[in-house]
Amino acid sequence: MRILVTGTAGFIGFNLARRLLREGHQVFGVDGLTPYYDVDLKRRRHRVLESHPNFRAEILRLEDAEALRRAADAAKPEIIVHLAAQAGVRHSLEAPREYVDANLTGTFNVMEAAHAHGVRHFLFASTSSVYGANLQAPFRETDAADHPLSLYAATKKAGEAMTHAYAHVWGIPTTAFRFFTVYGPWGRPDMALFSFAEAILAGRQIELFNAGQMERDFTYVDDLVEAVIRLLPLAPETGRPVGAADSLSPAAPWRAVNIGRGAPVPLMEFLAILEKALGRRAQTVFAPMQAGDMASTFASADLLEDLTGFRPSTSASLGVPAFCEWLLAYRADPEEVCARAAAGLQA
Ligand SMILES: NC(=O)c1ccc[n+]([C@@H]2O[C@H](COP(=O)([O-])OP(=O)(O)OC[C@H]3O[C@@H](n4cnc5c(N)ncnc54)[C@H](O)[C@@H]3O)[C@@H](O)[C@H]2O)c1
Repeated sequence: MRILVTGTAGFIGFNLARRLLREGHQVFGVDGLTPYYDVDLKRRRHRVLESHPNFRAEILRLEDAEALRRAADAAKPEIIVHLAAQAGVRHSLEAPREYVDANLTGTFNVMEAAHAHGVRHFLFASTSSVYGANLQAPFRETDAADHPLSLYAATKKAGEAMTHAYAHVWGIPTTAFRFFTVYGPWGRPDMALFSFAEAILAGRQIELFNAGQMERDFTYVDDLVEAVIRLLPLAPETGRPVGAADSLSPAAPWRAVNIGRGAPVPLMEFLAILEKALGRRAQTVFAPMQAGDMASTFASADLLEDLTGFRPSTSASLGVPAFCEWLLAYRADPEEVCARAAAGLQA
């Protein structure tokens, strides 16, 4: 199939694109290589993908409607997976406009491409952050998620609403994934695991927000990719819910699906697993809760399992060492790691 993936130079887009290429799909990548974090890492991810003959990419900003339209016309996608976004809760306090531009205007332009090409399934990356002030755990897709705590979460919630409207008006079957703290090889340097590991290796102090009293439903990236691959053919159909846990809209072929393990890990435990994997102790200092943050996230994976027969299961004690192995190799010789990844893609 011809699949347009936005955000292919990003952490999740890169890992998903590799899997799609291995499965024989044609992947058209779109990414703006934004400077939010190390652009060299983004370029290297793209270089790995470009070693495969079925991958083509356009470097453009989603806000550039005309450039995106041309790229989509060239790709003629049957499916669009929209992952590109300005991510991160904390950065949305410092640079709120980047979220409005990328996540609202950008998402609207991608929706227009989905409409123009009559895609058979539009898949959009939302986030566990939309559950915001929700206190009921685990978080279920049928729960109200009406109280976002950060502008990041609010733009993702808006993306869910906008894609729902297009699903209703134009009949575009849409799945909004709610990803829960994804980690693993080729990860994001701004996220806790990557930045903690870098700090430990450099002997720098780590700030633990909310005095370390946080927990996250950490999801290993290979599990997440498996879930997305299984959801690709499952375009929602109005009036055909899969069971009581289904979030299928009564008015459109649209549903939200959590992608998380359903097993939150306390941050201090996660840090201890990281220290063990690196064989070094962290120097830590407690800091207050950050504005916009959630103390805990906890996915219900029931709907994902009902739909796909699959639940993420990789534990932190397996996933964190796999990440550390990648990070140490990448820090030692990034070109060698790219060459090995490119060779793995051809195999
Ligand atoms: N990683 C997680 O834990 C997590 C959790 C919840 C939701 N998500 C969502 O999943 C998606 C992918 O996340 P990720 O972790 O791979 O992030 P990422 O930052 O690594 O990837 C996003 C990519 O989008 C590109 N991009 C950003 N703004 C753009 C714009 N305006 N135009 C074109 N390209 C642009 C960036 O250059 C980047 O390569 C995002 O939508 C994110 O909000 C991620």
